[in-house]
Amino acid sequence: MSDAKSPWGGRFEKSPGKFLTEFGASLPVDQRMWAEDIRGSIAHARMLALQGVISESDADSIESGLSEIYREINAGEFEWQIADEDVHMAIERVLTERIGPAGARLHTARSRNDQVATDTRLYAKGRASDLAYRIQCVRQSALSLAEKHFGVVMPGYTHLQKAQPVLFSHHMLAYAWMLTRDFTRVRHAYEAADVLPLGSAALAGTTFPLDRAYVAGRLGFASVSENSLDAVSDRDFLLDIAYACAVCQVHLSRLAEELIIWSSDEFGFVTMDDEFSTGSSIMPQKKNPDFAELVRGKTGRVIGDLASLLITLKGLPLAYNKDMQEDKEVVFDAIDTLANSLRAMSGMLDSMRVNADRMLAGAQGGFMAATDLADYLVGKGVPFRDAHEVVGRLVLACERDGLNLQELTAEQYLEHDARFGSDVLDAVDIDGIVARRISAGGTGHDAVRTQIQAQRDALAADEAWLEAAAD
Ligand code: ARG
Repeated sequence: MSDAKSPWGGRFEKSPGKFLTEFGASLPVDQRMWAEDIRGSIAHARMLALQGVISESDADSIESGLSEIYREINAGEFEWQIADEDVHMAIERVLTERIGPAGARLHTARSRNDQVATDTRLYAKGRASDLAYRIQCVRQSALSLAEKHFGVVMPGYTHLQKAQPVLFSHHMLAYAWMLTRDFTRVRHAYEAADVLPLGSAALAGTTFPLDRAYVAGRLGFASVSENSLDAVSDRDFLLDIAYACAVCQVHLSRLAEELIIWSSDEFGFVTMDDEFSTGSSIMPQKKNPDFAELVRGKTGRVIGDLASLLITLKGLPLAYNKDMQEDKEVVFDAIDTLANSLRAMSGMLDSMRVNADRMLAGAQGGFMAATDLADYLVGKGVPFRDAHEVVGRLVLACERDGLNLQELTAEQYLEHDARFGSDVLDAVDIDGIVARRISAGGTGHDAVRTQIQAQRDALAADEAWLEAAAD
């Protein structure tokens, strides 16, 4: 433990011992915000000098001292001490040890309460744009699969029972649209974080004539907070990013679940690349989709991170309470976990083999032409409910005889019901079934072609936002 005097030493006769010092410290968690802390402090010092609160030469020494610390931390040469409690105190202590009174002036008109909110917002903005980038990658992987395997037909399911044939592209694009909404949620989290709290001081503002707009401009914040009590108590921006992470992770989990099912021997729709699979220590034949399972498995934690932060905040009176120090550990975990899961998922999608023949074979079975057969009868003037009944009985008979609807001859159809004509075989042709889904947003070839273009356009529009945000 450092024997340096505590920053609030004046008021105290005793200090917490080793255990409580470690219990109270957030340094191991918030250390990663060091670059944001230094940026924020330089902006604050420069503003104080412009406003005549500290001298230009003090601001110069602060800036050069902090630049030196920046270099050291970046090079891994900085000596962190848990007794400093958090990243903010650690950097300020070392600065003051080195440059003396100028360093001790840095904290004028500032509290750790507005400092921690500022650093966390800067950090959240950076991570939100990184997540947005990684979401784009998975979206692109899904879109590329849709483009590359256009025309491949697979069974579509409800209740995990075969329902109607769909294009594999359509299925992949469903995930691209989920990820499109994830992008929007992460973008919203970025924008929610884009407000400067610095200048709120501990809770009530300060007696010094601050230029908050200048600091906001320097740090790249879009606006300045309107209420100092709210500014130091608000963690909505972290809830927003935790929620965005939880929803996106749930989407990845659903996709992971499909990859796990599809890569089973029973389905065989896809083959995962060896790089994304592991073996068994006892069963030589095993090839397990471990990484897809992990993406699914980590989802519980990310949902827990969101719940944890909501619960931390729910009983807190205004303004800052030490409970809020618990915010970062869970949010950082949610962000890190999602970032890694996105990275793993785009690798899985890019490298997996799509087995078109197995998908088509799956689409031939399961009586998936039944709805189209009923629609066919409707076309012959049969009311839909009656048509449903006729086809239902036909399916029952086929099931008894071990036949599927593609294996029946036109005569057999006619035998079953006189309203079936010689054109009935077209109604049960799998490609034809898909092609007839002409409604916008459906699985028909033209609708999916339109959809691919719409997803390309949406991807490009989001890319433009991302490039501007990452600047
Ligand atoms: N380490 C704290 C956190 O992460 C910042 C300090 C807040 N201020 C205070 N008075 N303890 O929330």
